[in-house]
This record gives sequence, C-alpha cells and structure tokens, in this order.
Amino acid sequence: MQMTATELRRRYLKFFQERGHAVIPSASLIPQLDPTVLFQSAGMQPLVPYLLGQPHPDGKRLVNVQKCIRTDDINEVGDTFHLTFFEMLGNWSLGDYWKKEAIEMAMEFLLDPKIGLGLEKQVLHFTVFEGDEQVPPDKEAASAWEAQGISSDQIHYLPYKDNWWALGDTGPQGPDTEIFVDINTPKCSADCRPGCGCGKFVEIWNLVFMSYNRGEDGSLTPLKKKNIDTGMGLERALQVLNKQPSVYETDVFKPIVEKIYEIARITDPSKGQLRSIRIIADHIRSAAMALADDQGLVPSNLERGYVIRRLLRVAIRHGLQLGIDRFFLGELVPRVLAALGEEYDELVRNKDHMLSEIEKEEKRFRNTVRRGLRIAEKTLDEKGELTGNDAFMLFATYGFPIEMTVQIAEENGQKIDLAEFRKEFERHRQISRDATQQKFTSGLADHSEEVIRLHTATHLLHAALHNLIGPDVYQKGSNITKQRLRLDVQLNRKLTAKELTQVEKWVNDIIQRDLPITFETMSPQEAKKQGALGFFGEKYGDQVKVYSVGDVSKEICSGPHVSQTGILSKFRIVRQKRIGADTLRLRGVLESDDKDDHSKHQEAS
Ligand code: SER
Repeated sequence: MQMTATELRRRYLKFFQERGHAVIPSASLIPQLDPTVLFQSAGMQPLVPYLLGQPHPDGKRLVNVQKCIRTDDINEVGDTFHLTFFEMLGNWSLGDYWKKEAIEMAMEFLLDPKIGLGLEKQVLHFTVFEGDEQVPPDKEAASAWEAQGISSDQIHYLPYKDNWWALGDTGPQGPDTEIFVDINTPKCSADCRPGCGCGKFVEIWNLVFMSYNRGEDGSLTPLKKKNIDTGMGLERALQVLNKQPSVYETDVFKPIVEKIYEIARITDPSKGQLRSIRIIADHIRSAAMALADDQGLVPSNLERGYVIRRLLRVAIRHGLQLGIDRFFLGELVPRVLAALGEEYDELVRNKDHMLSEIEKEEKRFRNTVRRGLRIAEKTLDEKGELTGNDAFMLFATYGFPIEMTVQIAEENGQKIDLAEFRKEFERHRQISRDATQQKFTSGLADHSEEVIRLHTATHLLHAALHNLIGPDVYQKGSNITKQRLRLDVQLNRKLTAKELTQVEKWVNDIIQRDLPITFETMSPQEAKKQGALGFFGEKYGDQVKVYSVGDVSKEICSGPHVSQTGILSKFRIVRQKRIGADTLRLRGVLESDDKDDHSKHQEAS
C-alpha cells in the first residue's frame, strides 16, 4: 500500500484515539524538564515524569507524534535510513493496559489495510527479551504474539543490547518487543535474523514494557505502575510501506532532495554524491526544525546552537563537494516547508527567523571557507605542500575546517599528516588549559570563568576600537567584574550610535568565527614590531606574553583567556560615558545563547 506521511500520522492517531487514547501535541524539541539534554531524542523524553508515576492531565492512554533530534548517529547519516531529525509516532499506557493489550492493538494496526498499515502477516518478525540475571525471558510477550497467530519461527529472543530500552543510564526503562519487516532481500547468512544488521529485516516499531526504574547505583527497581511506551519512526515506516530504497524517497524528504539535485545539476549521482545529497537533505531539515522551534535558537558555538551550526556547516561543505558554488541553503527552506509545513506550523510561524539565521550562517561560513581556501592555495603554491602544521594554522587562524584542508591536499595528490595536526591541536589546547588554570601570573584579580570570558571580550573590544574608530584609540584602563567589563580608552568624544553598532558587530563577528586564542612569549621590542597593542610607555620585563585572537588581535597581556572566541557567545555594549577630556569609558556584557531572545539577535552580517 502506498502511504503519505500525512495519512500515516492521521491513521496512527485516529486508530489509538478510537481505542481510548487522548491525542497530545508534540512537545518542543527543546526539553523543558531536563536542561542537561540538548534535544528531545525519543518520544518518551517529555513524558518521563508521567512514566515515573505523576498523573498526566489527559489521562492514562495517550497518543502523539513527537519531533526528535538525535545526533549520536550523525556520522551514519547518508546511508538509507539514519537521520538526525525524525518524527516518532507513539502510543502510551501510563499504568493502564499492559503487554497483551498493547500487542493486540499493535497487531491490528499492522495488518488492517483500512485503518492501519495493511502489512502481510508473513513479512513480520518480532523480537523479545531473552532475559538476564535480573529480569526473566519475556515469555509473556512471545505468547501474546503467538496468540495473534504468529508462528514461533517469526519470534526471536534477543539479549539486553537488542531488546532492552532505556534513554540514559538511569530512569524508567524495560524490556521491549520490536517489530521488523522482512523486505525480502536474500539472507546474509544461515543465521540471518532481525537485529543482524544486514538490512533484510527493518525495524519499524518498538513496544517498550517500561516497568523498571534504574537508580544512580545501577540498581533496578520495579515501577509501581507499569507503562507501555511505543515508538514508530515515521520516515522508516513510510519507506518500508512504500517499498522505497531509502527514507529520502518518502514525501517528507522528496521536495528537499529534488531541489538539491536541481541546484547541483545532478541527474545520475555517484555513490559519494548520493551520500552528500542525503546529508544535505537531512541536515537542513533538522536545522530548520530546530531553528523554527519557538525558543528562537540561533547557530552558535555552544550547545544547541552548536548542533545547528554543525548541521548547517556540514551541509554547506557537502554542497561544495557537489560543486555548488553559491548560496543555496536558503533555497531549500521553502522545500522543508513543503515537506513539513502542513504538520508543523512553527515552520510557517518562524520562517523569517529560520531563514535569516540559515542565510547568515551560510554567509559566515562561506567567508571562512573563502579566506581559508585562498591561504591554503597560496601555501601550496609557495611550499608545494600542505603539512599538518599548515592545516592547524588554517584551522586556528581562520577557522578553516580540517576536512577541507584534507580534501584540498588530496586534490593535489597529497596527504595531510593528521597526527601532526592533532599534536598541534592538543598542544594548543593544553596551553589554553594551563592559562585558564592560572599557571601563569596574571593581572586579573579574579579567575572565574565569567571574568576570563570578559577579559577576552575586552581584547576584542580594544581591537575593534583600534581598527574602526582610530589607530590612536588605546586602552587606558580596564576593570572586570563577573557581570561586566569596563574599558577606558583614549578618545575625546562619545561614539555615535552607528559606531557603537559597528563595534559590537565587529566583536560579534569574531565571536561567530570561533577563532582560537593563543599566546607566544617574546621581547617587548619584538611584540611592538609585530604590531601588538600594549602600554609601551610602561616598563616591561625582558620577555612578555603576547596573546593573539586568530589574526585579528594581538596584545601584550599576561592572560588568562578563553581558548576560542565562540565561548563568548554574544557581546553587547551597555553604556558609554566620558570621563575627563580625552577618556571614554565603555561598559560591555556577554550574553549566553539560551538567555537571549531572538529579537536581540538581529545583527546583520
Ligand atoms: N522509547 C522507544 C524508542 O524511542 C519507544 O518509543 O524507540
């Protein structure tokens, strides 16, 4: 039977609604209950308190379609089914029905062509938990399948690693029974069976018998009320039902994938190109869904923002690999809306925010790439090779991704010494770590994380003023508390509103470029020669430390600083005041991603 995503969602919800389940909306992609988790990664995540016994306002039987983002398998994306964003159909019993009834309902839904999936009984296989020292084999689930007319050779007992479901190390969990469809390819071996991974048996639904809670000490305690948590990945189910070669042919992907073919002008992709096309399609969908969530996330170098940034940048990189040499991610956004906009109105509601963040990120990353490419090519011309050190320099100074340096080297018949790259990377990390651990003497009174971040921001502000307002604008004094920085500079006027915006934007661009901060020790004369900012009127010792932020700021300073500018998130000037004839005092703050509402992110870049 051919089925669209809309039809599958509709059938699933209706089937369970008619069997006493309340339809509940998808929770936000961003977990509200557990701030340590970046995104909802399973249907059960927003329901954990109810699985642990708290009464749900909508009752004991629920059904939903939950938006999920899972990045654990991000490197597998590009094959036929791994995804970072997916929709999970689920029905829930909170201390209500148990195995037998869950299995009866599942069977009816699987087989019925009018109200369910219309699958043939003989293509189905079922796995159940084989038991271990703590929990016995799940004969109850196996008998329930048998009672539905399933023969014993379609039922397979599998161990903990296959048939036990838990979201993390602790929390509600239990044995499960998984439903597989035999897609009728040849067996990979005589023992080929569900779970073997060859692709003959595709898992489409998982019924978890959530009956235990695991504590911090690893112990299992039976839950007072036993729950059912089921999960059917929408994309995979559609692929199987429609007998499509991968999830990318289903209608939740098709408009996106078609547009990528069109933009890349590809009709008959090689294996590598096909993988790139799939990665772009997956990543733009996830990034769009994350950006469209009402929380107003933006790409950044921290946590959720970093996931979004990574998804977008990897997509752009694969675009480059396909030979797409122009901005293209924005063109895919209407296609994401075509695929998912009807189901998720946040895509429509927050389209402008989503589109503008995607376009800004593409612009930023392309600038990085352009600069890096120029330097890489120049280095190749001059030296005839790219070493591991060069690769590190490109990364450290221009934020140029290592994968791209490797690619350029390969195109020139060379190999980057990755061990050398890693060694430099580690060395640099260690230096930053040491600096943060105050192994060096420092003028900073307080070495809290907030103060160190503001200290790096002070350098950036200083460099911005020096570059944008005038080469004579030097620091006269600085004072940092946990809440704010205060920088006094030599200037006989206030900044105009336009200048303030320019300065903020300059600093924030550097933050966005996530440049590393490094230092070298040298003589004050050498520092001056290299153009480092400093108080040359003062007396320095024989050797000074010079901190560099990528290639944009150099300043004599004893540190410590953060290791990457991205850690600063976002900078804002909050006040300016003239103190005396030739001194301007500026106060600035750093905001963290999550506290920001997105109206504050209207910077144009
Ligand atoms: N929690 C299980 C899963 O995510 C079933 O919903 O697979």
